[in-house]
Amino acid sequence: MTGISIDGETALYGIIGNPVKHSFSPRMQSLAFHASGINAVYLPFFIQESHLPRLLASFEVVGLRGFNITTPYKEKILSYLHTLSKEAALLQSVNTVQKTADGWKGYNTDGSGFLRSLAEAGIGVEAANVLLVGAGGAARAIGVSLALAGVSCITVFNRTRKKAEALADLIQTAMPEVETRISPESRAAYDILINTTSVGMNDGQCPVPVTLTAMCDHIVDIIYNPPKTPLLEKAAERSIPCMNGLGMLLYQGVEAFEIWTGQAAPVEVMRQSLTQAVFSENGGISD
Ligand code: ATR
Repeated sequence: MTGISIDGETALYGIIGNPVKHSFSPRMQSLAFHASGINAVYLPFFIQESHLPRLLASFEVVGLRGFNITTPYKEKILSYLHTLSKEAALLQSVNTVQKTADGWKGYNTDGSGFLRSLAEAGIGVEAANVLLVGAGGAARAIGVSLALAGVSCITVFNRTRKKAEALADLIQTAMPEVETRISPESRAAYDILINTTSVGMNDGQCPVPVTLTAMCDHIVDIIYNPPKTPLLEKAAERSIPCMNGLGMLLYQGVEAFEIWTGQAAPVEVMRQSLTQAVFSENGGISD
């Protein structure tokens, strides 16, 4: 980061989490501020749950303008915020907070960031038939965003059926026109299969039966480290267009930057920062 200058007017942003030291966001967002000529830095804050009740008052004292939230506080922060965006209210989960004249406002950019990564890859969602694997926080954000963006059917496939049913209900609440199903049918075809589980991150496993992958036009794994999971390898073997989760990670950050600054983010600077970070975490092996 050459030429960065910090002075008496440098603004402060950050990310809270536990753990947080492995986050790529401090470097990505600090580089983005610098590239945009904005006098600001972004730091990681390792927070204990017992700190939460005093956290926003402390941030107010030091003049922090906005922050991101990672595990395990995306839901726990809600009771301390003053207003929520529509998506954050629906999901009851926040990953981005901005200081406004009316207090601290919570947003969720995970789903909208995911949609932007699909759009960039040329994957259309209008009237799409989607197989959503997993029903945790990421699946909820993605499922609701896909529903609001106009997919026609979402099949939720999850190890714990009750959680799949709860996500289908949430999608119905957000967008009653969208058809929801639980568990894939044999021989069903899907426009997009999206893995939101951690299966494939470090276990060498595929989150769905391999036969299912053959029935999909596009395959997306939101895991970005490793860059190529067994699911994506299966897709590549079958020449099915596929994408990992780096785009989602990038665009959730892009959207946060745009909320805070009101200006377009330097997407390529941010992408390069993430690509380098993942590359070096993999010992310089890119796939
Ligand atoms: P995130 O916020 O990343 O979505 P999460 O809320 O903990 O994380 O959700 C993790 C998802 O991965 C869940 O859908 C979980 O399935 P369960 O609801 O049955 O727990 C799924 N998951 C995690 N490990 C799994 C495994 N070994 N096999 C199948 N599904 C798994």
